Amino acid sequence: MRGGKHVARQTAGARSPVFKQRISARKLPRPESRAGDAASEQVRCAGNAARQPLARESLPVTIGRVTAVDDSPSLPHLAARDPEVAALLRREQTRQSSTLTLIASENHTTPAVREACSSVLTDKYAEGYPGRRYYGGCEVADEVELLAQDRAKRLFGVEHANVQPHSGTTANLAVLEALAGSGGRILGMALADGGHLTHGHKVSATGKLFEAHQYGIDAETGLLDYDRIRERAKEVRPAVLIVGASSYPRVIDFAAFAEIAHEVDAKLMADIAHPAGLVAGGVFPSPVGHADVVTMTTHKTLRGPRGGMILCGADLAKKIDSGVFPGGQGGPLMHQIAAKAAAFGDALQDGFKDYASQVVANAQRLAAGLIERGLRIVTGGTDSHMVVIDLRDREVTGHDVEERCFAAGLVVNKNAVPGDPRPPRVTSGVRVGTAAVTTRGMREAQMDQLAALIADVVDGKDPSGLRGVVGELCAAHPLP
Ligand SMILES: Cc1ncc(COP(=O)(O)O)c(C=O)c1O
Repeated sequence: MRGGKHVARQTAGARSPVFKQRISARKLPRPESRAGDAASEQVRCAGNAARQPLARESLPVTIGRVTAVDDSPSLPHLAARDPEVAALLRREQTRQSSTLTLIASENHTTPAVREACSSVLTDKYAEGYPGRRYYGGCEVADEVELLAQDRAKRLFGVEHANVQPHSGTTANLAVLEALAGSGGRILGMALADGGHLTHGHKVSATGKLFEAHQYGIDAETGLLDYDRIRERAKEVRPAVLIVGASSYPRVIDFAAFAEIAHEVDAKLMADIAHPAGLVAGGVFPSPVGHADVVTMTTHKTLRGPRGGMILCGADLAKKIDSGVFPGGQGGPLMHQIAAKAAAFGDALQDGFKDYASQVVANAQRLAAGLIERGLRIVTGGTDSHMVVIDLRDREVTGHDVEERCFAAGLVVNKNAVPGDPRPPRVTSGVRVGTAAVTTRGMREAQMDQLAALIADVVDGKDPSGLRGVVGELCAAHPLP
């Protein structure tokens, strides 16, 4: 029950008792011995690699005028056993390193996170939860999951974390099933206005299994209009009000949403899939203390492996856990959970705050550079990692710009803008994100270059002529 635990019933600024205060010591202990182990492990691996026959081609990769070193992984076992798959993985490595990922929902993981993803834990079945498994041999899996939970709880300052969701979609489904029940009424932001499919769109299971209603944004300003959302909530009276978006560049007033949810006696689910890393890094408002449940993906700004996570207070823990398993999933992906633990460990380090604030600084600089070149930006700027370019005053469509950017080596995605007159496969917008290029070490100076490149593409410059500059940027900023 949420009675008395909702932030709207708290004194101003007070945290809901549902959530613990943020832990002040955000640093994880880093035992010296572990660093030593890692170093000797590296030496061992290097030794093994040296003994393996070199199956990889060491051909240089040509990117426009620039010739980059082929940094594709050696994959000795896969190359020997299945050269076809190995070749595809090498091609993907080359694709990523020789282009710039500006997809707002993507990032580059650390080699440490990727090692955990490809670990032997992929072999382990661990249905259930730590200490309550349906399989034997889960003693290590238990410790891994408890470590991931503990780090998540410290990172976001909450009482309970479920780290098992395979994705953001299964996390949202589990929460909606747990809080609204089959056929229950939900209210979320419309996909066309920046929301996500899983917030009740008719093609998603959330639009089929629940009685789904939608709210939008102000078509003029591109901003959330809290008074209109309140009116809509009073009309609909949902069991669950969903806040969060896939394409909304500004901060969200989670306290205002909590008040609305309280007024209509709804639970508030905050989906922070996009800004999760910015929240963890302290540069974007946290819904913790306002929402009853928080969901997220771990692979966007949080820079972890592909996956989802759910946070809540102790009072909802059992309901949420049952919603995930057995409600919506079977065995957890233990290798991904190990990788989540590793990513949360990184995010607990002070350096992650610098990363998160650079992501936002980069997005703001990119937006300013695009505006300087005469482009319209939805809401006039950004408070986050994403910038949405509004092409409604141009001949060129979102689809055109996506294709031309691709030819220049810039990977972006077309995106509907508020009040978009063009269909979803065409759109009048482009969404650009800075999480991945910031991971590659890019800063404001490179954002100026990127703004010029994107503006050149929109202005109709031959994209193949821009490939060389993109190649130089890639070569100077290698993948982690
Ligand atoms: C707001 C939001 N929620 C949920 C999801 C779904 O995540 P996944 O693709 O991991 O299912 C996304 C994915 O982009 C998202 O943007």
